[in-house]
Amino acid sequence: MRFEFSTASQIVFGPGTLAEAGKLAKVWGRRAVVIVGKRPQRAQRVLDLLEENRVVTSTVAVVQEPTVDDVVSGAAAARRFGAEMVIGVGGGSVMDAAKAISALMTNEDSVFDYLEVVGKGQPFELPPAPWMAVPTTSGTGAEVTKNAVLRVPERGVKVSLRSPYLFARVALVDPELTLDMAPALTTSTGLDAISQLIEAYTSSRANPTCDALCAAGISKAVRALPEAVRDPKSLQARIDLSLAGLWSGIALANAGLGAVHGLAAPIGGQYRAAHGAVCGALLAPVMEMNISALRSRGADNPALGRYADVARWVTGHTDATPEDGAAWIRQFVGSLGNPRLSALKITNDKFTEIAAKAAEASSMKANPIALTADELCQVLTNSY
Ligand SMILES: [Fe+2]
Repeated sequence: MRFEFSTASQIVFGPGTLAEAGKLAKVWGRRAVVIVGKRPQRAQRVLDLLEENRVVTSTVAVVQEPTVDDVVSGAAAARRFGAEMVIGVGGGSVMDAAKAISALMTNEDSVFDYLEVVGKGQPFELPPAPWMAVPTTSGTGAEVTKNAVLRVPERGVKVSLRSPYLFARVALVDPELTLDMAPALTTSTGLDAISQLIEAYTSSRANPTCDALCAAGISKAVRALPEAVRDPKSLQARIDLSLAGLWSGIALANAGLGAVHGLAAPIGGQYRAAHGAVCGALLAPVMEMNISALRSRGADNPALGRYADVARWVTGHTDATPEDGAAWIRQFVGSLGNPRLSALKITNDKFTEIAAKAAEASSMKANPIALTADELCQVLTNSY
């Protein structure tokens, strides 16, 4: 066995930790570009804390999943401002934009030199500006991943900048910031975390360090998610979902993902559906297809035993089979009211094209067993 493990340089976690933002940032300099999302007022407290610590700020708004152009112009604005650091305050899209902007501030060549799939995938030449992640949602894990997902609208795909350089210097995770997440956002981001934990645990690159985080995270998330939807102000449920999201990000950065995210990449490139909702719609059908493929042509693949572990954790039954786990997840996702792909306005005439693009997606490489184009199309049909 051989594995590597890397994550953010520092993780500061807990209710109330937001108060430490200014103190943590000021060691990097006096000028910060702050990336904010659709609700920029959510970043006001961070702006105040930075000011109290004599850090001057300029804000860049990212109101949707960032495009390549968004981060190129954001990096140019940060350079013009003379920023010495990047602070991202928002959801997964803001985290990804902050990551990309921190790297493109110092690496000024064409972004396509560094982009995977649609670009040359070259490594960054210079260390990025230090960046701090302040997530205001739980679930994506983007505060501790080393890839920035970017939309390339003209190609209809979402692809990543990916580098160990993209890890945050500080991930400041204050679950109190997630207390006002709406139920639909709580559901979609929670299902993203659960998908990421299950995919990292059953991945062909699974490793024992991530296994421990996935085991704890899956058990926590499937109990806390319905609780947070029922009682959005439950701090305990929010803490648990913030932990599960954090662990899902650490796990996916080190163990990879699978067909749920492999399919979600081209869907996200072509449609404006919430990433977590798409993952939720795909999760049980992907589990069912992987389990059936493993049974027919991968009986000695350790992933089958891993799906049985997942089944035991989610059902609470010691004799649960892999199929029981997939059935439980199907019922769980339905009970949360997560939309199917048809309700997300994804049309079934493009399934062949989506399946073909998914086969090229970086996440697909870690799926526990290679699925055929027909099987991927069947997964889409079963999620529709
Ligand atoms: Fe995800």
